[in-house]
Amino acid sequence: MPKLLETVDLVTNFYTYEGVVKALNKVSLVVDHGSTFGLVGESGCGKSVTVRSIMRIIQEPGRIEGGKVIVYLDERDRLDGIDLLKQSEAYMESLRGDRISMIFQEPNAALNPTMSIGRQVSESFLFHQKKEMSAEILARLEALRNPFNRLLQALYRIAADNPGDIRLRILDKLPLLKLWQKRLKKEAHRRSIEIIDKLGIPDAKQVVKQYPHNLSGGMKQRIVIAIALACNPVLLIADEATSNLDVTIQAQILDLFRRLKEDVISSILLITHDLGVVAETCDRVGVMYAGNLCEVADVEELFENPLHPYTRALLEAVPKFTMEEELQSIEGNVPNLVTPPPGCRFHPRCPHVMDVCRREFPAMKEINKDHLVACYWVEQKKEDR
Ligand SMILES: Nc1ncnc2c1ncn2[C@@H]1O[C@H](COP(=O)(O)OP(=O)(O)OP(=O)(O)O)[C@@H](O)[C@H]1O
Ligand SMILES: [Mg+2]
Repeated sequence: MPKLLETVDLVTNFYTYEGVVKALNKVSLVVDHGSTFGLVGESGCGKSVTVRSIMRIIQEPGRIEGGKVIVYLDERDRLDGIDLLKQSEAYMESLRGDRISMIFQEPNAALNPTMSIGRQVSESFLFHQKKEMSAEILARLEALRNPFNRLLQALYRIAADNPGDIRLRILDKLPLLKLWQKRLKKEAHRRSIEIIDKLGIPDAKQVVKQYPHNLSGGMKQRIVIAIALACNPVLLIADEATSNLDVTIQAQILDLFRRLKEDVISSILLITHDLGVVAETCDRVGVMYAGNLCEVADVEELFENPLHPYTRALLEAVPKFTMEEELQSIEGNVPNLVTPPPGCRFHPRCPHVMDVCRREFPAMKEINKDHLVACYWVEQKKEDR
């Protein structure tokens, strides 16, 4: 499968009073079109900072200080991709909640308490549809040839060339769209009910009239997912989106992700503590430790043949057959990222530590086919074979 998203040596630091928190230390990962990539690791290892850096929503005192975030969204940019770190903020705004949408753990933060559920889902549809609409209107205008239409054409072209919000503001002022507006709203309402229904929420017609406080946590999280999906994203990023929910609802939502990946979205980047979720949902997995990605492999390969000492420790800490446990802590402490250990950040806890591990930072190497590991010990074992 071709690549959809790639980070190359991503570096993000936080400038705090205690010192510089070196949160991401050259994180490189690839998410393919049509696949689900799971990112796992203990609390504080940098999973959220990774996806926030990808979306460029790192807040003060954080800074993305190195690397690339390349997306291959359209046929046009399939070859070289677009480096998001080089794009304008306006470009990012038009991408977020559109081609790429993101769901966080806490649904209350994502929902507006004063707006009905139906309206919130509809708005997401409308935003997307208006953008498509400007292209449709332009095509129609181009078919007509008189001076007045030329003028309109020019206006629509200006609108179409502008990103996100500005485009919508221009479009709202233009006469032709007004006629479409009513039709659009009706359509958005219909599709909101449809998607809420698809997400397994009973009585969608009633639910759209309600407000967030009327709904349970699980319901709210599904609505957040409905909003994220309403714009037909190519990539859905879910940061612990199901961790707050009880096991049955979590299972339903994950099942939903699997189905949705097939018919709506192209790829999912899933962050979770839960190895069971990874085993059931993901095609490929990346294991993070203290700001480094230490191992990436297809899901079966990772579970059957874990190579990095940290991954092995993680998997050993989980009861073999159930896998339903959260990641257990393993011996030793997670390093402080203000003064991380030199060399491999895992070396103080590693049972196989060698001299080089204390000095040099190991690069990711392909040890088996499509199985990448950043570890001198694993490399050496391979050479010895
Ligand atoms: N605003 C901030 N200021 C200072 N340090 C931060 C900030 N945000 C994150 N960090 C640091 O960056 C590191 C990575 O944090 P991150 O939130 O990505 O961890 P995580 O893997 O998502 O953990 P969890 O599983 O608990 O969500 C941590 O050491 C954290 O302390
Ligand atoms: Mg997190």
